[in-house]
Amino acid sequence: MSNNIISRLIGRFLGPVNPKHLNSQDSSQLFYTLVEKTKFKITFILGFRNLGGLKKNISYYLYHKFCIFICKRRGDSRINYVSKNKYADAFKLNGFFLKNPTPNVIDALDLLNGKISTEMCAPSNNTSSFKFVYNYYFKNEEFDTLRALITDEITEIVRSIYQCNFLVHNAYLERQFTTKDIPKRSSWLWHFDDIADCQIKIFYFVTDVDKDRGATRLHNLDNSKEMMKLGFLDRYKISNNVESILTDENKIYYAEGERGTVFMFDPKVMHKSVNPERSYRDIIVLEVFPSPYEELKYLPDNNVDTWKSPLNLLFSKHQ
Ligand SMILES: [Fe+2]
Repeated sequence: MSNNIISRLIGRFLGPVNPKHLNSQDSSQLFYTLVEKTKFKITFILGFRNLGGLKKNISYYLYHKFCIFICKRRGDSRINYVSKNKYADAFKLNGFFLKNPTPNVIDALDLLNGKISTEMCAPSNNTSSFKFVYNYYFKNEEFDTLRALITDEITEIVRSIYQCNFLVHNAYLERQFTTKDIPKRSSWLWHFDDIADCQIKIFYFVTDVDKDRGATRLHNLDNSKEMMKLGFLDRYKISNNVESILTDENKIYYAEGERGTVFMFDPKVMHKSVNPERSYRDIIVLEVFPSPYEELKYLPDNNVDTWKSPLNLLFSKHQ
């Protein structure tokens, strides 16, 4: 069978395949591409928006349903959940929202101020491998200092999105500096996070953030789905079709706001990180997952590996 026929057969099932690429690929590369594209198609058809793996996606989907079931049975839904919440609605529609600073959040940030400048951004405590980024992960015993950031309003929004309680998986402070050497890899390229669909990231702006000062770039949910449909697989191999949407200034959203702004986003919408062109940019990031428990748990990554299974969230004793 000629390559032409093969490429047409493959193309019918998996979308356009360039015969030139077929000619230049050896059979193992072709097989790898086919497997990747098939996995992608199944993931997309099932409605998942990341390539973290079917097993992981299905197990987290079931875990989330379980959390909803437990919370509703306990009667939490009647007490705590708001069926109509404009922020939750915006999140479901766009995949993100920005919330203006409130006195509660500003007060909580003010309390952390001293620690941020002396300890969290001390080079000796930096866990990032990049010279122009400092990361400080909050320890278990420090979580109480973060609780004030999770105001009743934020709690209500997350519960409204999830329809159940939630837990904090990771909490860290990130300081980004200006740099001329923006890496052409990792978070600095357009990508979806390959974590389960039910993970949400919450950014608290510790400094002002704008287009020139480290604002995350995003595409909304519809554009992101469109790019998945067009076959976005990998941040390092972007087709022309996808590229034209990615670079369309009318479609790019900049997560900007003053100190105290809360930016909540679904990391399965297309996004990328950009270092500030002036000064530095500080944010506190909370990564949250659904939870069946009444109390707010903190299960940092060094204790609980969420990349493997949601069972780690259910049965961990860390708090
Ligand atoms: Fe990301």
